[in-house]
Amino acid sequence: MSKWVQGTVVGRRDWADNLYSLQVAAPEVGFAAGQFARLALPAPPGAPEPMLGRPYSFVNPPDRAPHEFYIVTVPEGPLSPRLAQLRAGDPLWLLSTANGFFCVAEVPAADVLWCLATGTGLAPFLSILRTPEPWQRFGRVVLVHAVRRACELTYRDTLAEIAAAHPGAFTPVSMVSRETHPGALAGRIPAAIEDGRLEAAAGVPLTAANSQLMLCGNPAMVDDAKKVLVARGLRRHRRREPGQITAESYW
Ligand SMILES: Cc1cc2nc3c(=O)[nH]c(=O)nc-3n(C[C@H](O)[C@H](O)[C@H](O)COP(=O)(O)OP(=O)(O)OC[C@H]3O[C@@H](n4cnc5c(N)ncnc54)[C@H](O)[C@@H]3O)c2cc1C
Ligand SMILES: NC(=O)c1ccc[n+]([C@@H]2O[C@H](COP(=O)([O-])OP(=O)(O)OC[C@H]3O[C@@H](n4cnc5c(N)ncnc54)[C@H](OP(=O)(O)O)[C@@H]3O)[C@@H](O)[C@H]2O)c1
Repeated sequence: MSKWVQGTVVGRRDWADNLYSLQVAAPEVGFAAGQFARLALPAPPGAPEPMLGRPYSFVNPPDRAPHEFYIVTVPEGPLSPRLAQLRAGDPLWLLSTANGFFCVAEVPAADVLWCLATGTGLAPFLSILRTPEPWQRFGRVVLVHAVRRACELTYRDTLAEIAAAHPGAFTPVSMVSRETHPGALAGRIPAAIEDGRLEAAAGVPLTAANSQLMLCGNPAMVDDAKKVLVARGLRRHRRREPGQITAESYW
């Protein structure tokens, strides 16, 4: 049975206002790349449950400690503003078991794996792409990180590490929706699929025959991208009814 274990914040990296990563030592918590932890702090007095917890995707690959989480503060939310106060040395609680099926093992093999992320939806891909499995099952991997502002194009050092480990097989693509940024596509993911800009930037076609897609982040992006992909003849992947689209929505 899953229970709360006490971890310790051992590091923190601030990327932009309200956007940061926490490193957390909690060696007893294991996971598969793509899964999420439940992070918690003691609930306020009078709350029905003793702990206030929310899911957060692991950023680190399973064989690398400490655990890492990539978090945006939702100012009106109950937990994320409290997590934003944490500093090295502070306690943080995690459920002892990880959860989720947003894992490459669930995705059929194909020529191209498209990883489409908005905002902190980048997190599970940083874990997945630092394991051997995607590179054994897909010829090419395209990772799209779509954000509002250029300062939210984070983890460029990790993306460079992935590119160096897999020369010729990895194409990162940046998108910025609320300002112009050199080297980044403008606008949103679904429009860039629809008008062909994403395929042009990646240098590979996106078809039902050659591609698998993993989508993570804003549920409106997941819904809108699915519509564009379905219009191209792709469909949701299910174990009993294989398709090309696997998604995880963050709310
Ligand atoms: C499977 C899963 C994995 C997740 N992994 C992460 C992660 O790695 N990093 C992360 O920051 N969050 C992640 N989340 C969201 C996270 O669990 C919390 O919902 C979020 O931190 C806000 O918590 P809150 O208690 O402050 O507000 P909540 O009451 O949980 O959320 C309030 C509102 O904030 C918005 N919101 C919540 N999360 C996000 C987000 N990540 N980006 C943009 N808007 C958001 C939504 O409009 C939501 O309705 C994940 C959620 C799920 C379901
Ligand atoms: N990022 C910030 O500047 C900021 C500042 C303060 C607080 N916050 C808090 O953080 C939360 C998350 O912000 P976030 O920027 O990380 O996440 P987000 O709102 O999900 O935005 C990330 C990217 O997803 C895009 N997107 C939104 N809806 C889409 C759709 N239907 N289809 C395709 N793409 C879509 C956005 O484009 P668009 O830009 O076109 O919407 C943006 O490029 C906010 O709800 C807010 O509470 C954020």
